[in-house]
Amino acid sequence: MTKDAYTLASEAAAALRSAAGLDTFDVALVMGSGWVPAADAIGETVREIPFVDLPGFRAPAVAGHGGKIRVVRTSSGRHALIFLGRTHLYEGLGVDAVVHGVRTAAAAGVRTLVLTNAAGGLRPETQNVGDPVLINDHINLTGANPITGTTFIDLTEVYSRRLRALVHEIDPTLAEGVYVAFRGPTYETPAEIRMLRTLGGDMVGMSTVLEAIAAREANLEVLGLSLVTNPGAGLSGEPLNHEEVLEVGRATAARMGVLLAKVVDRL
Ligand code: 6GU
Repeated sequence: MTKDAYTLASEAAAALRSAAGLDTFDVALVMGSGWVPAADAIGETVREIPFVDLPGFRAPAVAGHGGKIRVVRTSSGRHALIFLGRTHLYEGLGVDAVVHGVRTAAAAGVRTLVLTNAAGGLRPETQNVGDPVLINDHINLTGANPITGTTFIDLTEVYSRRLRALVHEIDPTLAEGVYVAFRGPTYETPAEIRMLRTLGGDMVGMSTVLEAIAAREANLEVLGLSLVTNPGAGLSGEPLNHEEVLEVGRATAARMGVLLAKVVDRL
């Protein structure tokens, strides 16, 4: 099974190279819900390739999750693959579908991966809605893992210390935190949110961790950024909804876009 997933990613990478008219790419960025409006700031669009044109990709089902790869040329002449949308485990397509974009980017020559997401904040004492937070580690509570077999992969430094230092140089005010992932699509209960605070989590979401693991298997250098779109359930007294997540993204697009553009140009 696993062998097939890597073969499919190589085929997708070949199709991507030909559709993009480029042999290799410097970086890939996965834009989570909330981050899609920030994509415009990263560079000039060379081409846009719908997911459905590439082997193994599916159009995402959720509003605000896009569904294409934008090939961008930055002001310093770097080429970035921007994934506008991703597949989530809760869609039920399996873990290989969730990490197919990462494996495709790796097969297309990418060495650096920027994973973004919208997340619930677990530390309202110190976090504001609309703040980006650098992911410095994760807790994978999805119950899934993209690696099968007997290859043991070291996860001591999933989120590159070097890249985090670089982002701190760009924006010294950014906080770091531990991202916890559940499978979703339900948001957590207040009891689960209290549990995650006890466990040492700082943000909670439904993505990123499986992609980060697949990226480490492929030896990519990973940068993770969460946009805190709301406090976790029970921390504010308000119910949660996806529209609010998208709205925070729209409201912060300019700031997130400038941050990502600077990051990509200094990799
Ligand atoms: Cl509170 N939980 C999860 N799992 N994902 C989220 C979220 C919360 N807020 C935005 N995305």
